[in-house]
Amino acid sequence: MLKVGVIGVGSISQFHIEPYLNHNRVKLMAFCDVNKERLEEKGKRYGVENLYTDYKALILEADIDAVSICTWNNTHAEIAIFALEAGKHVLVEKPLSMTVEEAEAVEKAQQKSGKTLQVGFVRRHGDNAKLLKTFIDNGDLGDIYYAKTSCLRRLGNPGGWFSDITRSGGGPIIDLGVHMIDISWYLMGKPRPVSVSGNTYNRLGNRSHIENLSFYQAADYDPMINDVEDLANAIIRFENGASIMVDVSFTLHLKQDELYVKLFGEKGGAEIEPELALISEKNNTILNITPQIDTLSFDFNKAFQNEIDHFVSCCLDGTENIAPVRDGVQVMRMLTAIYESAKTGREVYL
Ligand SMILES: NC(=O)c1ccc[n+]([C@@H]2O[C@H](COP(=O)([O-])OP(=O)(O)OC[C@H]3O[C@@H](n4cnc5c(N)ncnc54)[C@H](O)[C@@H]3O)[C@@H](O)[C@H]2O)c1
Repeated sequence: MLKVGVIGVGSISQFHIEPYLNHNRVKLMAFCDVNKERLEEKGKRYGVENLYTDYKALILEADIDAVSICTWNNTHAEIAIFALEAGKHVLVEKPLSMTVEEAEAVEKAQQKSGKTLQVGFVRRHGDNAKLLKTFIDNGDLGDIYYAKTSCLRRLGNPGGWFSDITRSGGGPIIDLGVHMIDISWYLMGKPRPVSVSGNTYNRLGNRSHIENLSFYQAADYDPMINDVEDLANAIIRFENGASIMVDVSFTLHLKQDELYVKLFGEKGGAEIEPELALISEKNNTILNITPQIDTLSFDFNKAFQNEIDHFVSCCLDGTENIAPVRDGVQVMRMLTAIYESAKTGREVYL
């Protein structure tokens, strides 16, 4: 059995808590949150009695082997390092940290502890991504030299800490771009990034005055602080000559939200979002191939269950971790380089 504590019981935590409760080799032992009222409400809802307002107390006092970190971005590295040093396995939500220095410090702590550190790159665990990876590993796309990905929200600044740069580290690039860049890079075979050119804009604010459209919000939604970008784009170049083009927004004058990931290889192409598709050619004819599976799109609940199942199996069975800390560090290098490039108006070399 794996005994687990969850630190930060806000909006995303249910996608950790419920998969843990579904798992027959997990005992959910303790919760922590600095918001006492929310902590008690979640404790009651999920039948967890060991409640802490201080993560250090949870890590040192609760009877646990592992933690899920579901707090604001500015606390990820600090909590992960403390947990690793105390000998606990760690599943940390994306992004791994707010800076590259913090990410490298987590990597060092993980190496020293020998414990599992899995980064919450949940899109890697989607059934659509897992199936596509089997085609890619089989060589069906050949060498993948280009990816194009977007996550454009016309209205969707989650507010609260998400739009407070001191707690988030940035806007849609660090919040949404992290997923889009990661899944593209992962499926391209994780080539080494060499340079980044990016632009960020903050032209529309958070548009909290807009009515009649709902969107994901931080548990403590507050539209008052907003010092993050609302739109960003970037091109990332890799050592093998491949590139990723990405754009993401919290808000934009856009007809409807867009979310896609397209991969282009020498032998074939693929779209993984919004729906899995393969593109190929045979007998002088282009073929669009639709795999016959239950769900072609990304299923949030299933992907989180897969992510938690993978974490448990890494901790208990020594299964190879598909989202290790070094990947979190590389992704942080790309994300922070986009911000640096946007700030300086120049290409950034890594
Ligand atoms: N994988 C995904 O698709 C996905 C989706 C949404 C959010 N996230 C990530 O999950 C994390 C949390 O996001 P959220 O939407 O749940 O935010 P949230 O604001 O709803 O919840 C965060 C919780 O953490 C608590 N907290 C903050 N600092 C703490 C500390 N030092 N100790 C204990 N508790 C603390 C807050 O009080 C709050 O209850 C973020 O890093 C975010 O990027 C991931």
